[in-house]
Amino acid sequence: MTTSLSGSKLVLGVSGSIAAYKAAELVRLLKKAGAEVQVIMTADAERFIPALTLSTLSGKNTLVEIFPEQAEGTWTQHIELGLWADLFVVAPATAQTIAKLAHGFCDNMLTAVALAARCPMLVCPAMDHDMYVHPATQANLKTLDAHGYHIKPPEHGELASGLIGTGRLPAPTAIVDEIAKTIALQQSTASLQGQHVLVTAGPTQESLDPVRFISNHSTGTMGYALAAAAQQRGATVTLISGPTDLETPAGVQRIDVLSAADMAGAVAKHDDAHMVIMTAAVADYTPAEKAQRKIKKGAGDLNLTLTRTQDILAGLGANKKPGQVLVGFALETDNLEENARRKLEKKNLDWIVLNSPNNAGEGFGTTTNRVTLFSATGTQKSLPLMDKAQVAVAILDEIEASTKHSL
Ligand code: CTP
Repeated sequence: MTTSLSGSKLVLGVSGSIAAYKAAELVRLLKKAGAEVQVIMTADAERFIPALTLSTLSGKNTLVEIFPEQAEGTWTQHIELGLWADLFVVAPATAQTIAKLAHGFCDNMLTAVALAARCPMLVCPAMDHDMYVHPATQANLKTLDAHGYHIKPPEHGELASGLIGTGRLPAPTAIVDEIAKTIALQQSTASLQGQHVLVTAGPTQESLDPVRFISNHSTGTMGYALAAAAQQRGATVTLISGPTDLETPAGVQRIDVLSAADMAGAVAKHDDAHMVIMTAAVADYTPAEKAQRKIKKGAGDLNLTLTRTQDILAGLGANKKPGQVLVGFALETDNLEENARRKLEKKNLDWIVLNSPNNAGEGFGTTTNRVTLFSATGTQKSLPLMDKAQVAVAILDEIEASTKHSL
């Protein structure tokens, strides 16, 4: 399992696109992730996939009709479902359903529940390229965006028509990840309002010469998720980032650096932050000499001398500001707990987050992580394997719950 949605109540609206067949896999993955799923289909969607398939996979009778003489349940079911759901996902969302949602039409069960829903909405458009790029559809999507709907854009690729273009429904796994992110976002509060949170993320690059460097496999995903989660709680967030392919989370101030020394310099300028979370995989060693010109190969081997870099976090720990919360990350392959606790103490941290690349779905380059938190006060908390956005929320929850007095 890649994502936990344990206890989440989801309404899945399926409209009439060929991509409706992907709804079966989506329901299966959502159930596997622990969600309760109520499927609602349009009559057109039933032409592509039988309601019975989705009822069997979801364990709930799929709803199509809105009127009680045709449907099971009561006349007010569309209102009740809108109140029940934590999230309403429309996947696939056709141009027609998007148009109806944008303009408040409610002539079928899907659109009626959507109009009555108090929960967040996630819309996953799927259609032919020309229908998607048409100004009418784009204007409707803009309207939904203005209404606060989350939109997962379609992908580029081969379409049912045989044409190549934008309009493909993303893979069910990608939609599950988007659902997890949207729910995590919803659960956030303004609990870090007025706080400055400094996050470091990604690898560092240590140059050997103008064309080569030593680095590691960190992608920065965990740090970016923490920066986004802290920003969503109202914090002023500074993200000091090594090279990554990630987009800067909305509202976050990002400072790009390359080497461990650059990162140390950037951190020093923000070392009075209320909370510092060091997720960066800072190089421990850097070439003793950086050649000004490209090193040319010789007849024999090349020996490199590496010197230790400055331990940024240990430096912050040694000069900890009153009330400041310092959080380190430990990526360990052996003696996991012992090494994590040793770093917690040695660097004078308040928290250390232990993770390990030993198991699938954990550590570098994954969208998920399983971590254990150790605090200076002796608490220990193991979290389940979750999407990194959810791990970030859980880490902040844990830290905030036990450090309320100092934050
Ligand atoms: N860190 C740092 N400066 C460094 C190296 C690491 O601030 N030069 C931070 C990392 O961002 C992380 C924590 O320290 O929060 C990791 O601790 P560390 O002991 O450096 O871990 P490793 O580099 O994995 O060390 P070891 O080889 O001892 O496992």
